[in-house]
Amino acid sequence: MPYPQITEYQEAVQHPLQAFVDPELKQGTVAENNLGLPLVMSGGFALTYAVTTPRRKCAVRCFHREIPEIQRKYDAISKVLRALASGYFVDFDFQQSGINIRQKVFPIVRMDWVEGDTLGVWLDKHFDDPRALERTRADFVDIARLLAKKAIAHGDIQNGNVMVTSGDVRLIDYDGMFVPGMRPGNGSETGHKHFQHPERRAADFGPAMDRFSFIALDLSLKALIADKTLYPEFREGGETIVFKANDFADPPNSKIFQRLLKMPKLKDQAQNFAAVCGAPLAAIPTLDEFLAGRNMPVAQRPVAASPTPVAKPRLAYIPAFPVVDALNFSAAMQYIGDRVELVGRIVEITRGARKRGKAPAKHYVFINFGSWRGNVVKISIWSEGLAKLKEQPSNAWVGRWVSVTGLIDVPVENKRQRYKHLSITVQEEGQIQEIDEAEAGFRLASIASAPPPQARSAPRVDRTAAATPPATGRGSRKRAASGTRRAGRKHAAQTAAAAASTQPATAPSGQPTSARIPRWAQVLAMLAVVAMLVSLLLVT
Ligand SMILES: Nc1ncnc2c1ncn2[C@@H]1O[C@H](COP(=O)(O)OP(=O)(O)O)[C@@H](O)[C@H]1O
Ligand SMILES: [Mg+2]
Repeated sequence: MPYPQITEYQEAVQHPLQAFVDPELKQGTVAENNLGLPLVMSGGFALTYAVTTPRRKCAVRCFHREIPEIQRKYDAISKVLRALASGYFVDFDFQQSGINIRQKVFPIVRMDWVEGDTLGVWLDKHFDDPRALERTRADFVDIARLLAKKAIAHGDIQNGNVMVTSGDVRLIDYDGMFVPGMRPGNGSETGHKHFQHPERRAADFGPAMDRFSFIALDLSLKALIADKTLYPEFREGGETIVFKANDFADPPNSKIFQRLLKMPKLKDQAQNFAAVCGAPLAAIPTLDEFLAGRNMPVAQRPVAASPTPVAKPRLAYIPAFPVVDALNFSAAMQYIGDRVELVGRIVEITRGARKRGKAPAKHYVFINFGSWRGNVVKISIWSEGLAKLKEQPSNAWVGRWVSVTGLIDVPVENKRQRYKHLSITVQEEGQIQEIDEAEAGFRLASIASAPPPQARSAPRVDRTAAATPPATGRGSRKRAASGTRRAGRKHAAQTAAAAASTQPATAPSGQPTSARIPRWAQVLAMLAVVAMLVSLLLVT
């Protein structure tokens, strides 16, 4: 049975009484975003909503992709975590009949809400505080030891699945957990690529699957303790601490490995970690072994602090989430409700304020990758997000290449003015990362070889047809823009339609208004071609 998609969940959770089966959740209210729609977080396997009931605040995770044998897995996880009674985990219950959608019921996970920040956000605030970092590092050493002892693995240790509350660490998102009693090798996910061994596959599901992430995490935190300047340089939009998937896949050509190898305190561990990256998965030591220098795999290619140029061609970009070309509207349509990395060149900045009810007006800035009058992809930043940015978006940003990772929200449609906007909302400082044109081209080039979007219920348009080649110049990108009119999968966006009124009435002056060829010009060009052909025929 196909799982509901974001639009259906967005509709449903606005009416908790009808949507939820759990009597407590029925009494709840769902946190809203700035458009008055339910605020949805993440978008890996689940769409997460914050629901406040008369008793407490909860995280409600709704699944938009099937997880095989989900009930059996969650029953086993629940039993083991209850017996473990560890403060590193959060109370939850899996409800197989959790939410009513289309006259059917679908599962949800209700979890206690954890106040605090995800590890990524926490690091943005504390990367320059060695004592806080050391305390958190010690927590991870303890968690790694506990899990190893109990033959439990989380499966996706990363910035977004760790909450830090007053310095204390807690793990969330248990979809991919392995607990004793489960059959190893039967996994459904492979974890965040910037925290995983290059060879990690779903079939590696088992008690040892967190080993690599814990080592990467430990060395990353030590790196920041030794040199806080590494964080702003390598944090990559909050998706990692200092390492990225490309560093794991090719340590000899990695900037961060070279930097660590020059640091006397860290060079041995960096060398050992490079060996771990190149070793088979089965040879990865536990964190305790790694720290003690025991059971270390032999380095295949030792890494040098100042490497001689390697003849090997540069590896393709390995993204943590699918890369989407910001000019390719139809490709972006296929990822509604998903977390993606959007790469594009800013075309215009529009700003305004929106008032809802009696609340004070909320200011917003939209960063557009095409004229707001057409079907475009944009970045939305509202008052709260703006307050966190060190540099306020201004017209000086026009022309910059940026990468932003986040969930593509349900489209906002204005039927009268006939445009549709897809948007990623920026909520944290550094979620937008400026990159140069060459880097943008490198990232966009990975689209061609990427697997298609994960199979879901609705039919899809052909995304390769409209995929843009690497950004070698402005001209090449305009061509792809003409494909954006081919709308992708249709979404019922009634709930979002009202929100379109937040658009400015006129385009900002002095800025490029469109990156695409207008329809009338296309029709004229076609007529001219037909006339030429007819006159040619008449002459012959
Ligand atoms: N129990 C919780 N308390 C507080 N925030 C949560 C909780 N569960 C999820 N979140 C927030 O929602 C985000 C996504 O949730 P997660 O369970 O990791 O879903 P996904 O499977 O999509 O990654 C987290 O990164 C966190 O910001
Ligand atoms: Mg998660």
